[in-house]
Amino acid sequence: MQPTRVLTAEHRRIEQALVVVSAFIAQLRRREPLAGADVDALLTFLRRYGEGYHHELEERILAEALSQIGLPEDSGPVAAMLAQHREAEKLIEVARSASARRGDASSQAEGDDRWALRLISVI
Ligand SMILES: [Fe+2]
Repeated sequence: MQPTRVLTAEHRRIEQALVVVSAFIAQLRRREPLAGADVDALLTFLRRYGEGYHHELEERILAEALSQIGLPEDSGPVAAMLAQHREAEKLIEVARSASARRGDASSQAEGDDRWALRLISVI
């Protein structure tokens, strides 16, 4: 399989997780509690698969391949990808910290879904 097809398939999996993020946002806006285990499962997937596997693959292989055809890492699409990865990592950490601090995401106050909205736009 072509590497780009592999990455595209991985993006589809990550987009499925973003559907879950959207559902969480809708739930929070209806002031319905989130199950802490569901939030933990989502964040674990995003950290392990999104960051630990997919981003690592893109940065180690895709960025290197693009560099070999003359695209610099410090500007253009590669720099944009790397910046998006770093921002997504920060947002996932914000979400993880908020979830751990509150013990259960069901206690999240109004407005605490901003990380999720931003995450969707970044990923
Ligand atoms: Fe990606």
